Amino acid sequence: MIEKLKITQIRNLYDIDLNLSSCNVFVGQNGSGKTSLLEAVFLLSRGKSFRHHEPKRLITHHQSSCTVWAKTTLGELGIQKILDDKSFATSVMKRNGQNVYSQSVLSFALPTLLIDPSGMELLEEGSGGRRQLLDWLVFHVEHRFYGAWLSYQKVLKQRNALLKSSHVRQRPQEITAWDYELSCHAQVLHECRQAVFENWRVYFKAMLGRLLPKYTDHINLSYQAGFDEKVGLFHTLGQRLESDIMLGYTRVGSHRADVLVNFYNDSDKKFKEQAVNVLSRGEKKLLITALKLSQLQMICASGGMPVVLIDDVDAELDEWAVDILLDVVLSLPCQSLMTSLQQKTAQQIQEKLAKSQPSPPLKMFHVEQGVVREALPEI
Ligand SMILES: Nc1ncnc2c1ncn2[C@@H]1O[C@H](COP(=O)(O)OP(=O)(O)OP(=O)(O)O)[C@@H](O)[C@H]1O
Ligand SMILES: [Mg+2]
Repeated sequence: MIEKLKITQIRNLYDIDLNLSSCNVFVGQNGSGKTSLLEAVFLLSRGKSFRHHEPKRLITHHQSSCTVWAKTTLGELGIQKILDDKSFATSVMKRNGQNVYSQSVLSFALPTLLIDPSGMELLEEGSGGRRQLLDWLVFHVEHRFYGAWLSYQKVLKQRNALLKSSHVRQRPQEITAWDYELSCHAQVLHECRQAVFENWRVYFKAMLGRLLPKYTDHINLSYQAGFDEKVGLFHTLGQRLESDIMLGYTRVGSHRADVLVNFYNDSDKKFKEQAVNVLSRGEKKLLITALKLSQLQMICASGGMPVVLIDDVDAELDEWAVDILLDVVLSLPCQSLMTSLQQKTAQQIQEKLAKSQPSPPLKMFHVEQGVVREALPEI
């Protein structure tokens, strides 16, 4: 849990210093800095923004660096992004005052889950977002995953470099050696992903029953390894070598894994379509919420205590769905940072918390033109 949070020069947040509680609600008008605050916490945990991949957009205009620092229950964490003359960013990361050289150290120490129902790209765009969603869960639940993932990326880079080289056809043994290594790491990634996926699917089904009950029997998740598990990646790579040389990169493998969200029809058992092509916009938001909340439940059940970031808690979902979202989040052993345009949402949360036993401590904040002030809860 984050006890203290300091932010400098992130968008319109010039200098923020907060003491946080277990449940934190930030209320402010459009453009006041609410999303930027969540973005800062996300940056500390993941090393990037959830809004844009270019760090220069995140740093306050005309400034060349930003920092986020947190005192958590388990120690201090900090990140600084520094822009050079060409707007290229470098990161300095610290844990307990010592430099660390991998973002994964901060990610392990501070797992964050963003619940942003309007983030349709998860369903509407390519496999990358869904793969990252699954991998976030696997990373925090299966500890052998990260090492295998790093090794896989390294070997993949080597293989792709070799595929692009003009001597590739003269070096068949080298390619076979990379194929073998790649397929060994792929097997570990696949086993970790599959085990976590099977478990997540159970949580997802239950959450779907609460948020989209009419689709409980119609929507199913399915996991794809990125290669044919029966044939094995090693053989597939061998068979596809010629086309990989033509393309100049490795087309199949764990880097192509996906989680499909399928829709099935009652009357026609063979009818299978991607859910994104069938659901309404509102239903897609509920589906995204179900995916995220089920991950949160699973990670809490496995002993993790993530920080949950919920942007515009009441802007995207119907009142009953917000009610379920709050019930789930507030009942789990996780810290929450939520934003809202409306004071009444803060009161709704306060009333919910008052009813729960034991009642987690709540703090409310007003956000105004980049200034965040703690507000006394209204009675
Ligand atoms: N790099 C930047 N430097 C300074 N200000 C910025 C930068 N990028 C964005 N802003 C400004 O920061 C302000 C806060 O944006 P933010 O998205 O956090 O607001 P918000 O409170 O979430 O608003 P909304 O309720 O509309 O979602 C905006 O007025 C925006 O114009
Ligand atoms: Mg916002």
